Order: sequence, then C-alpha cells, then structure tokens
Amino acid sequence: MSHTVLPAINAATRLCAVFGSPIKHSASPAMHNAAFAALGLNWRYVACEVDPQNLRPAIAGAQAMGFAGLNLTVPHKRLALELVDVLDPSAKTWGAVNTIRFGPPGATGFNTDADAIITALREDLQLALPGARVLLLGAGGAGRTAALKLASERVAELFLVNRTQSKADALADEIRRQFPAVKVSTAYPPDDVDLLLNATSLGLQPGEASPLDATRFALRQARAVYDMIYRPAETPLLRAARAAGCRTANGLGMLLYQGAAAFEIWTGQAAPVDVMRRALTENIYGPAQ
Ligand code: ATR
Repeated sequence: MSHTVLPAINAATRLCAVFGSPIKHSASPAMHNAAFAALGLNWRYVACEVDPQNLRPAIAGAQAMGFAGLNLTVPHKRLALELVDVLDPSAKTWGAVNTIRFGPPGATGFNTDADAIITALREDLQLALPGARVLLLGAGGAGRTAALKLASERVAELFLVNRTQSKADALADEIRRQFPAVKVSTAYPPDDVDLLLNATSLGLQPGEASPLDATRFALRQARAVYDMIYRPAETPLLRAARAAGCRTANGLGMLLYQGAAAFEIWTGQAAPVDVMRRALTENIYGPAQ
C-alpha cells in the first residue's frame, strides 16, 4: 500500500538526520520523509547545522538517543572516518563516510556516494567512463571519493585541482599507488576533457564564485559538466557551462542514489526511488505546473 502522509510522531518514532555546515539548503529531509511516508514507516528525518568541532559529540549524542542513522555532508565526510566504531568496506575503499547506521556493533560508517556518482553520470550525462579524461575540482571528502571511484572505473586520465594543493597531491599519490594504469596530474588539462566534475562546495552559497579558474581552462574544452551541488539548481559554473555548449547536470541524481542506498541501510527495505526522485524534484524546482 502506498501512503503520502507520515504517521503521527509518537514515542515509537525512529529518527535519522543529516549533519552539515551549511545545511539549510538540504533537500534530504524532503526526500527521506517522502520515502518513509510511502512505506508507511513511523520514521522522521531532520537536518542539523553541525560545526566540525561539534561533530564528535553530535554523532555520539545521536547514537545515545537511539537514532537509526545519519547522513554527513560538507565538511564532515573525511572527519567522520575517525568518529565511527566500525568502517564498512565502502567507507574504507572510498575514503569518506556519508552514511552512519547505529546499532550493534555500534556506529558503522558507509559510503553510498561513490556508486551514486557513477549512476548519476551515466544516467544524466550518458557518459562512458572507461578511457575518459576528467577534470575534477575538489579534493575534500566528496572529491576524494569521486577521484578513487572514477579511477576504479578505468578513466584514462584525471586532472585534480584543489584550493589546497597538498590535498590534491596526496590524493594523486594514492591513485598512482592503487590504480597505476590511470594517468594523474594536479594541474589544469592542456586540452579537451570528456568531463569536468565539481566536487567543491563553491557555488552553494549565494554570490560565491565559480570553482573553475577560467584563465586556466575554457569551458568549451569540456564535453560535459557535472556539479555535485543541486541547490541552486544551476550554479554559476553550470550556467557558464550551458552557455559554452556543454552537456550539464546538477547533483540531484547523485543525491537521489546516495540517499536511496542510505535508506536501505537504515530501514532494511527497498527504497521507493521514484517517490524520492519526485520529492527531490519538487523540493529543488518547485511543484510541477
Ligand atoms: P565534503 O566532505 O563535502 O567533500 P570538504 O571535505 O570540506 O567537504 O571539501 C570541500 C571541498 O571544497 C574541498 O576541496 C575544498 O578545498 P580545500 O581542500 O582547499 O579546503 C573546497 N572548497 C571549499 N571552499 C572553497 C573555496 N572558497 N574556494 C575553493 N575551494 C573551496
């Protein structure tokens, strides 16, 4: 049976949350609460502004209060590796935690972003990744996951650009060790790429500049541009990319697929992906006319 209204909150209500900073833009509550309603689950999902210095007590507090699970977003995905009791192989492999499940054996950290990125790139940009040349902006939690996952998909060449050069260098070294067949450099590409992927948080806040240094790389040199940001639905980077004739997509698809996998980890039930996509689309673009 399909429901659209959540059961009333009572003493049996299970809780999940996303922790991040900034967090006000998050569409995750709309997506997960729609999914709980569709399955008739007495669960709720909220968004909490959590400063990095408070991440440890915030996770411990949620665990102590019997939360079912958490999502983590900017800037917590790397830090959380140190703050869980157990790392699922996904978190170990992709070097970041975006999902936590509480319960025996404690707080378990998962990574549901890596598979979600690939699904979204294929679905939204029809990209064939093996052999592709990719310019990746960002070497934080999300950037690291994307770089390692793209390398595992046998892209030919990765150009890693990050504000803090040392993080790009460390990530490049790790890729060379784990995926010696992939060519890696930490500079802008000299010529065309198949994909430019933004994994920085630049563009999330109104008035923020594009993460791309347009004096070093022209957007017409990219066949496709993916921005992990989904609000605003069109960042300054995506707007410029569209004007330059690139295929473009925002982070809605990645958010959807990482959320569907997290939902299954917490509830043990198949995620109602269509319901979740509809809730996200409405939350990000407004109700269909
Ligand atoms: P997440 O866990 O979501 O990936 P993160 O680890 O804090 O969040 O990563 C944020 C990314 O955005 C990093 O690549 C960061 O660059 P630094 O490694 O130099 O911090 C990038 N970023 C954030 N604010 C930025 C800014 N104002 N200019 C350029 N890059 C920025």
